[in-house]
Order: sequence, then C-alpha cells, then structure tokens
Amino acid sequence: MKGKFIVIEGLEGAGKSSAIACIKALISARGIDVVTTREPGGTPMAEAIRECVKHPWQEDVAVETELMLMYAARAQLLNNVVWPALARGSWVIGDRHDWSSLAYQGGGREIPDAIIEPLRTITLKGFCADLTLYLDVDPAKGLQRAATRGALDRIELEKLSFFERTRARYLALAEADPNAVVIDSMQPMERVHRDVEQHINSFMDNHVPLA
Ligand SMILES: Nc1ncnc2c1ncn2[C@@H]1O[C@H](COP(=O)(O)OP(=O)(O)OP(=O)(O)O)[C@@H](O)[C@H]1O
Ligand SMILES: [Mg+2]
Repeated sequence: MKGKFIVIEGLEGAGKSSAIACIKALISARGIDVVTTREPGGTPMAEAIRECVKHPWQEDVAVETELMLMYAARAQLLNNVVWPALARGSWVIGDRHDWSSLAYQGGGREIPDAIIEPLRTITLKGFCADLTLYLDVDPAKGLQRAATRGALDRIELEKLSFFERTRARYLALAEADPNAVVIDSMQPMERVHRDVEQHINSFMDNHVPLA
C-alpha cells in the first residue's frame, strides 16, 4: 500500500471527530491527499448497517448479530474505500476501526477473542493501521460530552460498567501495540490537540519522503 492508514479510537465523546479535523489539516498541509472515513459506515451500504446497529430495536439484539454487522460494514468500507485510497497513495484517517470491535464487542459485551478472531481474519486479511491514536476518557465524562449532541443511541444507552470494560480493553490494546499512542482526552481540548499534533507530526517526519 502506498498511503498510510491512521486510526482514531476512543469512547463516545472522547473527541475523535474534533481530533480528526485537526489531523486532516496537518496532513493536507504536506501536500498529501487525505480521505476520512468512519466506522461503522463510510459507504452507502455500510451507513445503512450503521443505522441498523444504532436503532433502538423493540427486541433484544443478540451480541453475535451486532458483532457480525460491525464486520460486514468494515468489509464494505475496506474493499470500496480504504484499500483503493491507500493503493492510490492517499492517506486514510479512520474514525474508529477494528479496535472498536475488540473493545466494545470483546471488552464491553465480553465476546471471547476466539469468536472474534475468525471474523477479523476474513475481513482484515492481515491488514492493520500504521498508527492508532487512542483518546482516553473517563466514560462518565465522555458520555456527558456526547449527551450534549442530543438523544443517545442504542449503544450509548449501555450501563457505565459496559464502557468501563470497553475502556479497559482499549488501554490493554494500546499497551500491546507498538504503533499505538494513548492521548489523555480528559485534558482541555487545546491540550489534546497539541498532543495529537505532536504525534502526527513525528509520524509524518518518519514516513513522508522529502520532496
Ligand atoms: N478535551 C475536551 N474537553 C472538553 N470538551 C471536549 C473535548 N473534546 C471534545 N469535546 C466536546 O465533546 C463533544 C464530543 O466530541 P466529539 O464529537 O469530537 O467526540 P467523538 O469522540 O467524536 O464522539 P462520538 O464517538 O460520539 O462520535 C463535542 O461537543 C466536543 O466539542
Ligand atoms: Mg465522532
């Protein structure tokens, strides 16, 4: 792949969308074409799956259903957007990616890794992010921020303990991945963006060929 894939992960209200706007500007300023995506979503079919996942169904949603919908949406996005963009030499910034499934469905919903792993193999085919920025926030604080946006969706309505398990899994994933960085997202937004900027600039210094 000619381009680089940078992923922003974190709980609701962690500040992913705001950080992505800042990252996009930094990368574009170096003359690189940038594509931004979000998960689940980012293609017409994947956006329809997103609506389906977030809808407050009047029936129980099996954890397996939710898990497979996430990977179905991811397969659409990778095949139709992310891989073609990277092959062209564009850089892709992902608002969530595979860690969201590991953290929410694995950590939060407590689905064993042995069940998630085959779906990862089928969907990702060994593909992984070149850099992951995990924006770490206390769930209560993140949800409070997210709530200012309006009604909470099916996942945002989960108990705090669900998000505590999700956060713990995120932190464990970041610890184990040499291409990941944890950013303290409980700081004021300017500080968060300063930290984001520092990591993105040093990544670009190492990966953008000199003109
Ligand atoms: N560090 C911060 N301090 C205070 N407020 C913040 C901070 N970061 C983000 N916010 C505010 O919190 C709200 C949620 O931020 P944002 O939409 O960027 O989060 P997100 O991670 O994209 O959330 P979601 O997962 O729900 O899309 C916004 O109103 C944003 O301005
Ligand atoms: Mg967002």
